Amino acid sequence: MEQPRITIFDTTLRDGEQSPGCSMNVGEKLRLAQQLDRLGVDVIEAGFPIASDGDFEAVRSIAASVRRPITAGLARARVEDIDRAWQALQEGERPRIHVFLATSDIHLQYKLRITRDQCVEQAREAIRLAKSLCNDIEFSPEDATRTDPDFLCRVLEAVMQEGATTLNIPDTVGYTIPSEFAELITTIRRRVKGIENVVISAHCHNDLGMAVANALAAVSAGARQVECTINGIGERAGNASLEEIVMAMRVRPDRYAYQTGVVSEQIFAASQMLSEITGVPVQPNKAITGRNAFAHEAGIHQDGVLKNPLTYEIMTPKSVGVPDSKLVLGKHSGRHALSMRCEQLGYQFDRRALDDIYRRFVRLADKIKHVEDHHLLELIRDTHKPSGSATPLIEPIVPVQAAVVNAPAVEPAPEPEPAKPFPVGPQTNAFGVPLPVHSDSHHEQTQQEDYLWGV
Ligand code: KIV
Ligand code: ZN
Repeated sequence: MEQPRITIFDTTLRDGEQSPGCSMNVGEKLRLAQQLDRLGVDVIEAGFPIASDGDFEAVRSIAASVRRPITAGLARARVEDIDRAWQALQEGERPRIHVFLATSDIHLQYKLRITRDQCVEQAREAIRLAKSLCNDIEFSPEDATRTDPDFLCRVLEAVMQEGATTLNIPDTVGYTIPSEFAELITTIRRRVKGIENVVISAHCHNDLGMAVANALAAVSAGARQVECTINGIGERAGNASLEEIVMAMRVRPDRYAYQTGVVSEQIFAASQMLSEITGVPVQPNKAITGRNAFAHEAGIHQDGVLKNPLTYEIMTPKSVGVPDSKLVLGKHSGRHALSMRCEQLGYQFDRRALDDIYRRFVRLADKIKHVEDHHLLELIRDTHKPSGSATPLIEPIVPVQAAVVNAPAVEPAPEPEPAKPFPVGPQTNAFGVPLPVHSDSHHEQTQQEDYLWGV
């Protein structure tokens, strides 16, 4: 039997961006949206167009240029918001207006200062307006999990009558637990007339560390869209993590027999790109994308993994795009290996740009044994920066020796010999940290480069 298809709604660029320190400019959002497209998500929530001119422009440019996925723009249940969202989305191939309005008594009373009847009316009018502009309309009753279920069903029925096509159930404050959330989805499916004609969606926050479990419980109860973010970033404790939801379905089809359009091999690149853009590192023990997720430190584990990876690995690093650590980047590596690793980190370069990175890489590899991912990211970033920048991402590099088996990125462990700065040479930045040499006109070539040219 065909497995039901779950729509992956990525809100990294909207709810994710609301996470402290994670704001992105238009260019950065566009670059990440292109990676989300490669990742195969179904919907990209690109921003909240009324929030700022930058957010408007990000939504507009993503809608206009990333054509395969649906592009969603967020709007409060207000005329100005909905008009602005539509202005940003209208050039898109597949636009969606996402309207939200709080429905819990605590929000109605203290935040919005409206009655339940006024709430229903406002929701109806908002969806009517949105529907007059765009066919694909999502409605979110904010704080749904703390809303009286009878009232929630009443609001959902009203917005459906006005033409909403997706009903998203947000656990705005990360309060619910899996069994309760599943019951709520079941209640909605039983009580809201015509619900079978729309898609039910789950939007879970992680305040109690249960966002992914709640989202999966909702799917088991009949939700067919999940809203999630790369690395689980988002307001406060974050949103449900995309990679954890997708891989739970892939690793446990016996319990979660659903399919998604996600190309799991692109997960690591998306995670790295987000972290590189925001400057917010991924927690080392983060499931799927943390640098320890596939590292085996204990001797017994190392022994088992070397004999058969299945002893301690429930998925292969390759299946989520984690670079094979056996493919060590060093001074004998060629362009092919380098460009593959760059792609795994979320960067695709044309021939000329790759040559540029490659020359710097060879100089670096000459000084240290293994070029780790963080060295490479520094190198890539530096190549795209004006030379002489005074903000290196990493400390001067010391030679490293891999200490664990199959680790995607290993903390450098100092060798007994004295540390050498990277690279050895006269170029240093304002802090005295040596910088790689860059010259656009011509590149001096080492013998080693000549030897490796064309590899
Ligand atoms: O958490 C929430 O309630 C939201 C809505 C806008 C969907 O992010
Ligand atoms: Zn949210």
